[in-house]
Amino acid sequence: EKGGYDHFMLKEIYEQPRAILDTYRGRLLADQGLIRMAGIDQNLEKFINANRIIIVACGTSWHAGLVAEYIFEDLARIPVEVEYASEFRYRNPVITDKDVLIAISQSGETADTLAAIKMAKEKGAFVFGVCNVVGSSIARETHAGAYTHAGPEIGVASTKAFTTQITVLSLIALKLAKEKGAMSESKFHEYLTELEGIPSKVEKTLESNKLIEEIAEVYKDSTNCLYLGRGYNFPVALEGALKLKEISYIHAEGYPAAEMKHGPIALIDEEMPVVVIATKKGHYEKVVSNIQEIKSRSGKIIAIVTEGDKSVKEIADHVIEVPETSEPMTPLLTTIPLQLLSYHIALMRGCNVDQPRNLAKSVTVE
Ligand code: M6R
Repeated sequence: EKGGYDHFMLKEIYEQPRAILDTYRGRLLADQGLIRMAGIDQNLEKFINANRIIIVACGTSWHAGLVAEYIFEDLARIPVEVEYASEFRYRNPVITDKDVLIAISQSGETADTLAAIKMAKEKGAFVFGVCNVVGSSIARETHAGAYTHAGPEIGVASTKAFTTQITVLSLIALKLAKEKGAMSESKFHEYLTELEGIPSKVEKTLESNKLIEEIAEVYKDSTNCLYLGRGYNFPVALEGALKLKEISYIHAEGYPAAEMKHGPIALIDEEMPVVVIATKKGHYEKVVSNIQEIKSRSGKIIAIVTEGDKSVKEIADHVIEVPETSEPMTPLLTTIPLQLLSYHIALMRGCNVDQPRNLAKSVTVE
């Protein structure tokens, strides 16, 4: 059932090229220059006329929502707010019938997300679901939706659900960008082709597994770890930290790289590994100077860089390369090494990778 892999988590990490492809199959029609998604097509007016989109989710799905915020605002010019479902439902938010709420949930059973949906519906919002489990409570409770076609995710640590959620949300953002006239026809085509190329780039990224295992060996006994990223890769930093803490029990925090100097930099010493996402484009120069600040305080740098990178290679302790892609799609690649890093570290520490302590696959109580 684990298809020859030692753990579900590893199997699911390796399934990502296929899962992403399954998710855009039949929807992304690059040769026709078209994105077809029934749930969006049938409710296009609601999305186009929306004052804003509110995204609610928990955990990893909330991180996918944050990536989506960058994509929707950047590409489709639609204002987006991303909320933890648990906070949103209890803080008497201002919601009107001009709002569109997108709920993201792998399991479709998360209690807080479900409650947030019910509340938004009562206040007149149009509610759209992005779920993985077909026929789940959230899929049934929403007005419309789009499934991720990741296949069953068994490992408690979410992996392929995250990348397929980003895939679905990218398709929606691109479709709306085109329908709203916020993006030129040629740019739209460029993104479609780029998205089509992601599965093989994920495949390529997975080839770093051996190198990542060696890096894991060096840092497996760390007690703390920082993850930094900017722009599209800030949520990836949060996700990397969540993955490490939940399966290896190492304390980890994700931060926007520029926030370092507002506090966390005080933590840096030779004992502190810092994982930095430093891909080309996306404030590259600024991230390089953030790396220098850490190095001058003896921190250890594990950098995720674009293939062929030179500047970061000179200063980082370890570099893991990912293929080049357009900036909004970098999270689909930069996430992969972080999943593998946490997997190997957890394994080396003798942790139960697929079923970490105190956690359940779906959180059906608030
Ligand atoms: O099923 P959902 O996507 O609604 O679950 C949300 C979170 O409980 C989930 O992502 C959790 O944070 C994972 N264990 C993260 O790996």
